[in-house]
Amino acid sequence: MDLKLSGKTAVVTGGARGIGRSVCQVLAAEGANVAVFDILADAAEETAQMIRETGKKAIACSVNLAEYASVKAAMDKVKAEMGPVDIVACVAAITDNMGTIAKMPVEKWTREIKVNLSGCFYCVKETIESMVERKFGRYIFVSSRAGMDGGYGQCSYSSSKMGLIGFARSLSLEYARMGVTSNIVFPGLVNTPATAGLTDEARSRIIARNVMGRLQDPEELADGIAFLASEQAKGINGAELMISQKPAPWSFRPMELLGDEEAMGI
Ligand SMILES: NC(=O)c1ccc[n+]([C@@H]2O[C@H](COP(=O)([O-])OP(=O)(O)OC[C@H]3O[C@@H](n4cnc5c(N)ncnc54)[C@H](O)[C@@H]3O)[C@@H](O)[C@H]2O)c1
Repeated sequence: MDLKLSGKTAVVTGGARGIGRSVCQVLAAEGANVAVFDILADAAEETAQMIRETGKKAIACSVNLAEYASVKAAMDKVKAEMGPVDIVACVAAITDNMGTIAKMPVEKWTREIKVNLSGCFYCVKETIESMVERKFGRYIFVSSRAGMDGGYGQCSYSSSKMGLIGFARSLSLEYARMGVTSNIVFPGLVNTPATAGLTDEARSRIIARNVMGRLQDPEELADGIAFLASEQAKGINGAELMISQKPAPWSFRPMELLGDEEAMGI
């Protein structure tokens, strides 16, 4: 299927690696010009270079999503070099909190909310008006099951991902009549650098209760996100799409994954 992305400009946050890099590659393969947003400047440039080697257009933007000025500067660069933004895929996130609420440092809470949630708001704020003017826009946000169920030892990550659901739902209400859609995807457990540190035992446990019997590859998420970005998805708005295995009892996840109750502060 031709997703009709030729000539569209897409911003992908977290495009330096993992799911975000795959999203960049799939959108570019479908014809979009891609701006790779990431705090890892060298790796973002690597993604852009990989895309350019396929004959498609891509630029890298060094961005700290926690800072509005940084996002604004990067969006200004995209507009100057690639024209108005048609598609924003908010993929970047951090999950460096592992500990119960009493042990959660205030700085970690604040940083995670800023990167995972405020960063998405900044990206939309800097692009929505021109999408409305041109009567076309696609926003895709990556949440998490922790955003639905909460997460043991993951209060800030879970809160940011649930906040994102409220944000994406609000966006889906405000601009749909102007051709701008907002949808969310929920991955399962995906093979990326973020999950590379799992022990073999943790992997086996997760796979054992997964109806697909495996972890996911980033491309599976990227294909779903690219479809939501397409012309053909114009009727899909406010969707909350699980691109994952059967729901699992994630509230036990950190204990199961880490196997270290003392570190969890339990
Ligand atoms: N991997 C999984 O199993 C899984 C499961 C559920 C949800 N998710 C979600 O999917 C998305 C991608 O996950 P992933 O596994 O590819 O993660 P990853 O850690 O491999 O990649 C995240 C990217 O975000 C970038 N980033 C982090 N902080 C940033 C900042 N302040 N400014 C700009 N960029 C920043 C990182 O540099 C990195 O390139 C995230 O939103 C994550 O919460 C992943």
